[in-house]
Amino acid sequence: MSLRILGTGSALPEKRVTNEDLTRLVDTSDEWIVTRTGIRERRVQTSESLTELGAKAALAALENAGAEKESVDLVLCTTVRGDAVTPGQACLIEKQLDLHCPAFDINAACAGFVFALHLCAAYLATGAFRRILVISAESMSSLCDWTDRSTCVLFGDGAAAALLEKGDSLVDIQLLCQPDGGELLYAGAPHGNSPFRLGEEKSPFLYMNGQEVYKFAVHASVDGLRALLEKNGVSPDQVDHYLLHQANYRILEAARTRLRQPREKFPLTLDGCGNTSSSSLPILLDSLNRSGKLKKGQLLAMSAFGAGLSAGTALLRWDKED
Ligand code: UT7
Repeated sequence: MSLRILGTGSALPEKRVTNEDLTRLVDTSDEWIVTRTGIRERRVQTSESLTELGAKAALAALENAGAEKESVDLVLCTTVRGDAVTPGQACLIEKQLDLHCPAFDINAACAGFVFALHLCAAYLATGAFRRILVISAESMSSLCDWTDRSTCVLFGDGAAAALLEKGDSLVDIQLLCQPDGGELLYAGAPHGNSPFRLGEEKSPFLYMNGQEVYKFAVHASVDGLRALLEKNGVSPDQVDHYLLHQANYRILEAARTRLRQPREKFPLTLDGCGNTSSSSLPILLDSLNRSGKLKKGQLLAMSAFGAGLSAGTALLRWDKED
């Protein structure tokens, strides 16, 4: 598994939206949101584009790595909804960074960052690319129906990036999809104005069957992590940090208690960022990296899940000096 992380970065919109702010938009309460999800506030785009946020996160990752942007020979962006339908978000960010290498998007919903790591490990192993800039950039506020209390309170916007090159950091990585759950978490795409198109257009707003997705999330995190650890002869106690997709504190707690691990091994950004889809894992990674809590040689277990339904788990040995 040929990969190591050279540096990380992240960028959030300026605007903070608290749970209290949301009570003025929908019939909800701070108490409901905090007890059901653990979220206290989220950042929401106002004038910043996703391209600007992604580029800012990318520059922060390059600086953290001590790398020149010209050393990047592939830009990948994980996103469910970029600034444009086409070109891809990766191309828009690349232009902002004034880079001239191949660039394309990956959409594996909230699990996008783990799917990107998988792809990068393969690319780096073959030597097709030497340095890959992975950016996760999500504009969930553009997907949510701000009159639907069951979804708009859950999500936030943000971007994060990681600079990767060939190395021995990635111990193992597993991806899974359960496509019969596709309708459980869904946002439609507009049909356009083709006079030939038949059938009803689905709503462009995000729909989620929260309880069914919750069950999948717990199963994907707990069983996924257990299987990955067992396969690699690692006990849950040997993992130093569990980095889980930040969707709901109750999901994190279910995973933590079933793996019998202490709270400090499950870091959080959920309370201040909400669910930022594929950005949530790299935002969490960057916050840990910058807090100085990641030490060279430590074991990191990652798990992310979302629409598809899809999920990914990864085991990494942190290979960066403090
Ligand atoms: O990143 C993608 C992956 N997504 C996830 O992992 C999300 C997984 N699911 C969840 O996190 C939880 O299912 C939710 C947080 C979405 C919902 O929590 P829940 O405990 O499953 O609540 P529920 O959907 O069963 O709703 C309970 C009640 C309902 O009212 P009744 O029918 O009991 O009267 C809802 O209408 O809570 C009501 N409700 C709200 N009340 C106040 C739903 N949203 C709200 C709200 N404020 N914002």
